[in-house]
Amino acid sequence: MMRAALLSLGVVLHAGALPAAELPEGDPQAGRKQAGSCRTCHGIDGFATIPIAPHIGGEPASYIEHQLTAFREGTREHEMMSVVAKSLDDQKIANLAAWFANHDVTTTLTRDEAQAPEACVACHGVDGISQLEDAPNLAGETTIYIDTQLKAFRNGKRTHEIMSEIAADMSDDEIRAAAEWYASVKIAISAKGG
Ligand code: HEC
Ligand code: HEC
Repeated sequence: MMRAALLSLGVVLHAGALPAAELPEGDPQAGRKQAGSCRTCHGIDGFATIPIAPHIGGEPASYIEHQLTAFREGTREHEMMSVVAKSLDDQKIANLAAWFANHDVTTTLTRDEAQAPEACVACHGVDGISQLEDAPNLAGETTIYIDTQLKAFRNGKRTHEIMSEIAADMSDDEIRAAAEWYASVKIAISAKGG
């Protein structure tokens, strides 16, 4: 009885992490070296240097792996990232994810907590730090980045079982308000143990 319950739980957890589970173990130090080619846009620690690129330092490794695989396979598209991801094999993706995930993000709110978008906090947190293994941080991302992604989910250019449904019901004003909340959070990113 107990064993059956554990087994089915295992199946559920495994299914949730499927894209990442297929990849080899990542080596963060190898990933750090490879990250030199990400630096001009995402910084070596994943603190983005251009407004259209997201901060990726401290994101869950499984989320980073999933997105890089999606860009490589064409299920998510972007003129810059689609080109970058085409040159990455599974081992490189796992290494890069291990490196960027191995960071701590600290947040500081600059607005009253009561303004946090209620519909988002269960998964993305009040301060934009993800509460789930497969959800990204939104803390400190630019308004333009968050706005662009929500509109991509809404118009079907980017798809995800949860986010497509949530974005489908959002007006431009609601998108803007949620984007501005998370963009207003100040963040600092640092390598773990360094
Ligand atoms: C020329 C600039 C540029 C370079 C170089 C670049 N990126 Fe990106 N990256 C972007 C932009 C712009 C986006 C946002 C794409 C979009 O709007 O969908 C992005 C998105 C991403 C995302 C999705 C993050 C999220 O929150 O969904 C990941 C992961 C990522 N990049 C990883 C990398 C890695 C790893 C490298 C190096 C191997 C790299 N990028 C190199 C510009 C760049
Ligand atoms: C039930 C959980 C859940 C809720 C609630 C939720 N999200 Fe998400 N969100 C996710 C997941 C999971 C992803 C990753 C999607 C993917 O893999 O492409 C995501 C992705 C995103 C992204 C893309 C970020 C990036 O780095 O590319 C944005 C922007 C976003 N959500 C905004 C919101 C906003 C705004 C709300 C509230 C209106 C919200 N989400 C509510 C789970 C959730």
